[in-house]
Amino acid sequence: MDEIAELESQVKQRDVPKHVGIIMDGNGRWAESRGLNRLEGHREGSNSVREVTRSARRMGLKALTLYAFSSQNWSRPPEEVAGLMELLREYLTKERDEIMQNGIRLNAIGELEKLPKYVKEPLDALRAESANNQGLVLTLALSYGGREELVHGVQALAEKVARGELKPADITEESVTKAVWTHDLPAVDLVIRTSGEQRLSNFLLWQTAYSEFVFSPIAWPDFRAREFAEALLHFQTRERRFGLTGAQLRRAGT
Ligand code: IPE
Ligand code: IPE
Ligand code: MG
Repeated sequence: MDEIAELESQVKQRDVPKHVGIIMDGNGRWAESRGLNRLEGHREGSNSVREVTRSARRMGLKALTLYAFSSQNWSRPPEEVAGLMELLREYLTKERDEIMQNGIRLNAIGELEKLPKYVKEPLDALRAESANNQGLVLTLALSYGGREELVHGVQALAEKVARGELKPADITEESVTKAVWTHDLPAVDLVIRTSGEQRLSNFLLWQTAYSEFVFSPIAWPDFRAREFAEALLHFQTRERRFGLTGAQLRRAGT
């Protein structure tokens, strides 16, 4: 068995997280440190997306959410934004067969109406085509911001109240969870951020209330199946207490 298969099989012997979110950071610095254009970093990063998605499938994750473009990233230089959109379109075209052959359901969250038509169209087409696939749910967070998502959800709930369909007192954690874009996904067990940064940058604010965090110093273009499996092994050493004491958990576990 090769080294990666060995690491993945170690992960599978313990509790595999159902839902992992990844803040794929460091593409620009990866390229700049090699004297390349930042877009070359984003391009190499799409190879990491493919490798990590394959590894997630092999280890049996239910959901993988990738932060690919934030609401705030629209303010980057126009050439970089345009290059990222081109890469996205390329990804959606090139990965179609892999997604369909492996039973992956492609999902997207974010202010998708802001995406250019040449991205929105292939994205909608692949989401529709893969909608009945039963394997891994691969969610791309595109033009995504956690605050933007909460504002959107709060507006939807307020509209229901205004129409008399909902009482303010009936707004619960559950109804907020249903009002955000991740409503059909399991809770986020683990967030991984690459490239050494240790912040959330507006990623899944509501959904990460009890997530574990693993920060890797590796830039996203160098973060592959090995690094992913290692991050999951690290996650598996954590004790998730959800406010209880360690003793309470051990009692419940026996
Ligand atoms: C992450 O890499 C990808 C996007 C935000 C689109 P960055 O482009 O942020 O890379 P750094 O952080 O500048 O190195
Ligand atoms: C977060 O990375 C967004 C994505 C990975 C898509 P950024 O590089 O944009 O975040 P900041 O600006 O360092 O917080
Ligand atoms: Mg960055």
